[in-house]
Amino acid sequence: MQERSIAIDGPAGAGKSTLARALAQELGYLYVDTGAIYRTVALRAREAGADPSDPGQVEPLLDGLEIRMDYGPDGEQRMYLSGTDVTKAIRDNEISGMASKVAALPGVREFLLDFQRRQAREHDVVMDGRDIGTVVLPQAGVKIFLTASPEARAQRRTLELRQRGQDADFDEILRQIRQRDEQDRTRPVAPLRQAEDAALLDTTNLDLKGSLEALLTLVRERLAL
Ligand code: DC
Repeated sequence: MQERSIAIDGPAGAGKSTLARALAQELGYLYVDTGAIYRTVALRAREAGADPSDPGQVEPLLDGLEIRMDYGPDGEQRMYLSGTDVTKAIRDNEISGMASKVAALPGVREFLLDFQRRQAREHDVVMDGRDIGTVVLPQAGVKIFLTASPEARAQRRTLELRQRGQDADFDEILRQIRQRDEQDRTRPVAPLRQAEDAALLDTTNLDLKGSLEALLTLVRERLAL
């Protein structure tokens, strides 16, 4: 039921997925990462050699597209494309940029709308994305717009990659974050924006623990828990 759902929107790297997952665990809700669904469509476009910005090349791929999602024993959301587990493959940096491009295509958004709404009909969900509070679940009981400065987001992403032993250049990451923000905010269909009835949570000066506490306080107030 939408009224029991929690919608968390915001730009890339604001900590949405970590916080939404922790919140879902705390409340016993199902966590749905909608970005992973767009990423899976982007992966399909890459496999097909399609230009992710061209509706004429991407939309025909939606016909017969087989996307499935389930949850591992650790609660991790896994994505499948034509039966293959693509959970890791969709985290590729190139796919991040391509996902933002396919997500700007109205045909792709329309196609994924029902898929996302079905999750909220079947479960109590914490759903994160860009347009959950504005378009996907406008009746959500709690809406949060989670943000942080581009520099803070780039800094976190740089640290995360370095901790994983990968090369990470702060300036390049900051450039990519700004570019993705711009793409997600300026698209004509379902752009990234704060819903009028969403609470704003800015995590620029908060660590993970502080962010989770602030989020839990907001959610408890709004759900009257
Ligand atoms: O949250 P993420 O970085 O995994 O999302 C990847 C891209 O998908 C992001 O740049 C914008 C798009 N997206 C969207 O348009 N709407 C959503 N609800 C979720 C993601």
